[in-house]
Amino acid sequence: MKRVAVVTGSAGGMGRAITKALIRDGFFVVGLDLKQQSEKFDANLYAHFTLDLTKSHEIDSAFQEIESKFGGVDALVNNAGSCFMSDFPDIPAEEFELQMAVNFSSAFHCSQAAVKSMLRRDGFKKIVNISSNGAYNFDVFDPPHYRASKAAMDTLTKDLARRYAKERICCNSIAPAMTETPLFDLLTEETLNKAISNMPQGKPMQPSQIADWVAFLISPAGDVVSGNVIIINQGRDVR
Ligand SMILES: NC(=O)c1ccc[n+]([C@@H]2O[C@H](COP(=O)([O-])OP(=O)(O)OC[C@H]3O[C@@H](n4cnc5c(N)ncnc54)[C@H](O)[C@@H]3O)[C@@H](O)[C@H]2O)c1
Repeated sequence: MKRVAVVTGSAGGMGRAITKALIRDGFFVVGLDLKQQSEKFDANLYAHFTLDLTKSHEIDSAFQEIESKFGGVDALVNNAGSCFMSDFPDIPAEEFELQMAVNFSSAFHCSQAAVKSMLRRDGFKKIVNISSNGAYNFDVFDPPHYRASKAAMDTLTKDLARRYAKERICCNSIAPAMTETPLFDLLTEETLNKAISNMPQGKPMQPSQIADWVAFLISPAGDVVSGNVIIINQGRDVR
């Protein structure tokens, strides 16, 4: 039976690359996104659900449908996210709520639904949370609600890793720095140029480079790894 991976934010820059990597590795991928999928994936290898991940009832319905149509979930990549750029203390309450809902609550609710399915599946199951280097590096531009949403995600990673270690559900975070995706459009030219010039290789990373790390964790090599936050930043923050 084909193994099933759910990728949130699958229509975005990182999400498309992660989807491609998991299809390459033999998964049937279900993509969840607010947007339609622009990439032409083979319908035998990919199904797309358009939904708002800030609505927990939409997440529940999607996972029920995944269960009945595709049999269950073996891997979940919580990748959907955004970076709203208002700065402290002038962050509107609605923007704060939305930032937490898109980046953290969506991952929380998808994990709740996925774990119930994973507990019924054989073998190793994997959850990979796409966090951010911004939760750890306070020299870069990220606003505090973005940092906090990703820090919350990384605490969820550790809790799930500990809670389900014996059930063979491995949960890790990948925390990338500057990666060239449509998310860059949310930054001013000045902020973007400064952040890219601080990357040791003088250029941002590509989504496929992050996707290969996600795929590695989901591969059998990742069976012995859980509860980690893996920072990917070309060595920028080593002191
Ligand atoms: N690009 C970077 O430099 C970078 C660095 C660190 C972390 N990240 C993280 O990587 C992840 C992927 O981002 P990306 O860079 O590919 O950006 P992106 O904007 O290309 O993709 C994000 C995707 O999430 C989807 N999404 C947003 N809100 C949603 C909602 N309410 N319901 C359903 N889908 C929703 C969007 O439609 C989009 O397709 C994010 O969690 C982001 O925080 C990105």
